[in-house]
Amino acid sequence: MMLDGSIQNPGLFRPPAPAPRAKPLSLIALLGAVKHNPLEVWTKEHFENAIVTSRVPFFQATVVSHPRAVQHILLDNVGNYRRADLQRRILSAGLSDGLLTAEGEQWRVQRHAIAPMLARKAVQNFVPAMMEVAERLVARWLRHPDGDILDVAAEVTQVTLEVLERTIFSDGLKRDPAEFRTAMRGYFDAIGRLDPADVLGLPGFVPRLSRWRARPTLRFFDAAVDDIIAHRRRLLAETPDAVPRDILTLLLEAHDPQSGRGLSEAELRGNIITLIAAGHETTANALAWSLFLLSQSEEWRERVAAEADREFGGDIDGLADRLVETRAVIEEALRLYPPIVATSRVAIEPDELAGTPVRAGAMVVVAPYVLHRHRLLWERPDIFDPRRFLGEARREIDRYAYLPFGAGPRICVGAAFALQEATLVLSALVRDFELALAPGFNVEPLLRITLRPKGGLAMIVRRRKAPRRAGRQERVSEMARPSA
Ligand code: HEM
Repeated sequence: MMLDGSIQNPGLFRPPAPAPRAKPLSLIALLGAVKHNPLEVWTKEHFENAIVTSRVPFFQATVVSHPRAVQHILLDNVGNYRRADLQRRILSAGLSDGLLTAEGEQWRVQRHAIAPMLARKAVQNFVPAMMEVAERLVARWLRHPDGDILDVAAEVTQVTLEVLERTIFSDGLKRDPAEFRTAMRGYFDAIGRLDPADVLGLPGFVPRLSRWRARPTLRFFDAAVDDIIAHRRRLLAETPDAVPRDILTLLLEAHDPQSGRGLSEAELRGNIITLIAAGHETTANALAWSLFLLSQSEEWRERVAAEADREFGGDIDGLADRLVETRAVIEEALRLYPPIVATSRVAIEPDELAGTPVRAGAMVVVAPYVLHRHRLLWERPDIFDPRRFLGEARREIDRYAYLPFGAGPRICVGAAFALQEATLVLSALVRDFELALAPGFNVEPLLRITLRPKGGLAMIVRRRKAPRRAGRQERVSEMARPSA
């Protein structure tokens, strides 16, 4: 597949992406592309037309890129659209009983119980934990020789996992963190591919190889998480005043305000695993893509570094809100490389979308990747330009043309958490380091549940020459001591 990208022209950087196909693939070629990289199935038509219906034997889907039609599906007529089995099956290997896969009343109760702890104001309490993890990464990189080549995608994945560990179980995992992380990676590798059986819509009882591969790691998680919950329950019973106010405690105390119902044991476990699974790789990809895009733009590298120098000196409260240019880079990275490329729904009753009739049972796809690069919705859609997300330009973006976190009642519950974390970590990194792509390293977006750089992201990590704020060094070396 041809990659459409130029890393040469810094003024007008067109980040790498598969060139849309002139015409749709046959069934056999489609299955091949899905296995290799599902990002390669989009055709020109998808990026030029508001509604595109694709038909291959066994499978029909309507890709909807008209903002009002998207709003109709995700908000105005949301009751008529349930999550498609395809999406549920992809997401559900092991995430059963969690918010991501729940439907109906079970979803409503869980959502009302969990949303308040991840709301914009509430996540500000996690700033110190996020900063501490970011500083630990800075300290780790400072121990490398200047100019070392690191897989930055792997580094930021470790950061996002650590942030979740610190905010969910602030008193530790009760297991070897390395073992925990290895199992998590194994889990993602096992379920990270779209199974051809899912694409063909084969019934659930047809075994999926990917599910079988994930079983040992899923068992490991269930056991590890059960231990942590049991330990915390004991603590709550014996020494309630000494219990940390982290996400685990909040989940144990959470209840639906309407019914008063709390989470069952299975829901507790399911949601802890769901928060880690839904929250770590997505945010890590946002960070990895932001670092890559910055490496290609001297202007934005300087702007974001200058902002870090300016703002890190001030109060930690509201820091993420003051890093507006850093956030604009992240939002632009989420536009060009949305970690969740597409979401799908099934119409329950017949409907009409932007004048196109939709029959009951039809699958509709809302694809942030397509929306965000759509010719009718964006100027120079394939060009990296964070200015779109600053000031008045930001306000002009149609709410339903930019959906990295989805929209409507099932909007990502961790959006504020993710944006705050990515902003703080990116700023902490550019404050101390300048990253350049390793010579000869080819960057290519690959879709495996989330949209990640294929083969990681090999970058040269150099210390920044600019003077650093006094007091910084002591803080970093203090942080570095326990883990050194
Ligand atoms: C940049 C990072 C992230 C992106 C791009 C992202 C994207 C999304 C999207 C698009 C959805 C909606 C899917 C749909 O409509 O079918 C979603 C749902 C969800 N996300 Fe995120 N997410 C991110 C980070 C996080 C984090 C940090 C957490 C948890 C701490 C999280 C937890 C969830 C959960 C639990 C749901 C299901 C919500 C529900 O169905 O009520 N996500 N996410």
